[in-house]
Amino acid sequence: MEFRSGQVSLSDLEGPRTLDELRAGMAECRECGLAAGRTYVVFGEGNPRARLMLIGEGPGAEEDRLGRPFVGPAGQLLDKILAAAGITRPEVYIANVVKCRPPGNRVPTREEAAACLPWLRKQFSLIAPPLVVILGSTALKNLIDPQASITAWRGQWIVRGRTRLMPTYHPAALLRDPSKKRDVWRDFQLVRDAYREIVPLGKE
Ligand code: URA
Repeated sequence: MEFRSGQVSLSDLEGPRTLDELRAGMAECRECGLAAGRTYVVFGEGNPRARLMLIGEGPGAEEDRLGRPFVGPAGQLLDKILAAAGITRPEVYIANVVKCRPPGNRVPTREEAAACLPWLRKQFSLIAPPLVVILGSTALKNLIDPQASITAWRGQWIVRGRTRLMPTYHPAALLRDPSKKRDVWRDFQLVRDAYREIVPLGKE
């Protein structure tokens, strides 16, 4: 039985209680202009109880075609980095700042990101991961500080409430400039060590 006050039910006010409910609510989203060009909303995927969440910028061509995050060239590199850190993809949760592909893979505008961020916040609060990897400048600027530079901020934990967030370069940046791999590997070693304190090997 649902408590009703006028036309609004309490469950309407509380919003989605699971990632599946949230995904269903997003399928028809038209909050910004990116909706017009998408094939799929790339909601995000992974373990709903993940202790580690990774947040990128937005879907590229391959992600838009398949409706899954990080499955193109940058995603394949991300898989290798995770594997090198001894972390499997099904253990973690992967999402993006914007869920629809910006045309030509341009950086999402502040308005597009602002329109989409409530979905990411809700995803984050349902998963409640203690660790987050911020992949690249767009995620850093939209999640932490619009003025922040990824070069200056990468490699240091940011603490927000019960969550530690590690900014690092986006895997696509490594494809353009392989000299950044060394820094990213350092950052992921910190992430791996923090993750292993929370999820000991064999308890994944
Ligand atoms: N780049 C991103 O930021 N996200 C994806 O899902 C794919 C590429």
